[in-house]
Amino acid sequence: MRAVTPRLPVLACLGAVAIAGCAQGKVDVPRDQAQARRGAVLFNTHCSGCHTIDAANTHGSKPESQLSGGERTNGPNFNIRKESRDDVLFAIRNGGFSGAIMPANVVVGRDAQDVAEFLSRYSGKGK
Ligand code: HEC
Repeated sequence: MRAVTPRLPVLACLGAVAIAGCAQGKVDVPRDQAQARRGAVLFNTHCSGCHTIDAANTHGSKPESQLSGGERTNGPNFNIRKESRDDVLFAIRNGGFSGAIMPANVVVGRDAQDVAEFLSRYSGKGK
């Protein structure tokens, strides 16, 4: 896999280490869905610190049992929340919908497209 802008992913990764370790690979997307699979790997390495989705093997959102507010980094759980491709691209470009917590442009260009393809296909599938 080629290296992508190192700054933010490293930070996100460090945050995740404390909770779940920095699991790499092990995504649950068939190889024939090349774009979504690539997006899942990118999601695993770049978004895992703050978001949960089984298909990319990430657990960064707050636990489902924890209903009260928690860490600022706890982003939405994408097992539960369904995202459209456009919304994912918007969130990536603008740093989430609130523009406050999530860093903008963690992935760009083709990487962002691939992550959007992955999330729009695999988010909201339940647990
Ligand atoms: C530092 C933690 C952090 C990282 C890293 C992060 N996010 Fe987020 N994200 C959040 C938080 C917190 C929210 C909710 C607040 C908001 O929307 O501004 C959010 C919101 C979102 C939303 C909008 C969800 C909704 O329906 O409200 C999407 C889509 C999203 N993130 C995708 C991504 C993707 C894709 C990546 C990796 C490229 C990523 N995030 C990386 C913290 C993060």
